[in-house]
Amino acid sequence: MAQRETWTSRIGFIFAAVGSAVGLGNIWSFPFQTAANGGAAFLVVYLAAVFLIGFPTMMVEFVIGRRGEQNPVASFGKIGYNNWSFTGGLGLFSSLITLSFYSVVGGWVLSYIVGSATGAYFADAGAYFGSVASGPTAIGGHLVFMLLTIGIVASGVTDGIERATKVMIPGVLVLLVALAGWATTLDGATEGYSYYLSPDFGVIASNFGSIVPPAMGQAFFTLSLGFSVMIAYSSYLGRDDSLPADGGAIVVVNTLIALLAGFVVFPILFATGGAEGAGGGPGTAFVALAGAFGSLPAGGIIGFVFFAILLFAALSSSISLLEVPVSYVSENHGYKRSTTAVAMGGLIALIGVPATFGTSWLGFYNDLVFKLLLPISVLLLAVFVGWVADREAIDELGRGSSVGDSFTSAWLWWVRLVVPVAVIVTLYLGVKALSSGLASGAYF
Ligand code: TRP
Repeated sequence: MAQRETWTSRIGFIFAAVGSAVGLGNIWSFPFQTAANGGAAFLVVYLAAVFLIGFPTMMVEFVIGRRGEQNPVASFGKIGYNNWSFTGGLGLFSSLITLSFYSVVGGWVLSYIVGSATGAYFADAGAYFGSVASGPTAIGGHLVFMLLTIGIVASGVTDGIERATKVMIPGVLVLLVALAGWATTLDGATEGYSYYLSPDFGVIASNFGSIVPPAMGQAFFTLSLGFSVMIAYSSYLGRDDSLPADGGAIVVVNTLIALLAGFVVFPILFATGGAEGAGGGPGTAFVALAGAFGSLPAGGIIGFVFFAILLFAALSSSISLLEVPVSYVSENHGYKRSTTAVAMGGLIALIGVPATFGTSWLGFYNDLVFKLLLPISVLLLAVFVGWVADREAIDELGRGSSVGDSFTSAWLWWVRLVVPVAVIVTLYLGVKALSSGLASGAYF
């Protein structure tokens, strides 16, 4: 069997993991979920979810991956619990479903890059969205985006993924800082910042039940948790790397990029009308922003840069969504990486086609992942690490790091009790929403 490719350095791992984490979730979902759920009130709950639940859960995936040193399915067996392998499989399955609709949105982004250059959306952003988000243009964009993803993954871990993310992630960061600087000059800046940053704790208290599930779902999604990706990536890590330090760096950079996206989006929204109308469903973000770019001076250029950032972020994530199932299949069955990437990418492209029929299909795919698959995966992982492989987990977390025993045992109890309870509540509310959506015909 061929030698497993590994990261060329610890920084290579961090870049790849950040590349996976930083995506449409940060720059597209995060600001608009925030807008839809009361601004700063959502922000507070989201940040709590990221640091209190997301970070410990990332450690859960890291200990499994590094301990197992195998693909995310085989890792469970290597640690000694073969009957838990299905958990890794569930994560891989979630990756496939997610990539299938992620790529459709990636296709919209491509259309908006073109539209920024030609000015096609300036006059009527809503109509433009209607024309690119479903039908032939949507299918075309989806296929082009999948081809880009397949191309990078087929080139391999070092030449493809590592090289691409080392360019794209700094690019995203620099361009976002530039746009946030420009946004300070907008008329709506002050108002936008205050909506974004001054939490009204009364709002949080009275909307807790409706804020928590999207905040938790967003926290897991943005950190790429529950998809076996972090298990796979950490399986390439050396024994002397500190898992909490690496994970901390990844969480902080990922959060920083999401926050920066808010510093771009909120001034723009408030310069052209406010946060209302920006919150409802997957399309409104594109409509609200594109409308703003259409009416601001030099909006075409700004729009072009913004959508280019979005494309980089989306690609750096989509390659990791494809990489993990591809490496699993090619390692296990001895197929060539490039052949596997093409075959699997083609299959995923096909699964995504219904999501080009209209935003309600896309919404269904999205909710299926956010409200059902993701929480189930995370719950299983937490139970596995907290209650089944707890000794191995504690030992692995301590390796290569200077955190003491009290940190590792606090983490273990947190993973045993707090994480499952938080996830069960989220799962309950999510399944309720999903089934009432299905019953009321909201999707189909
Ligand atoms: N974190 C990505 C984003 O914010 C999306 C994502 C979720 C992802 N799970 C993933 C990316 C797994 C790669 C692998 O957009």
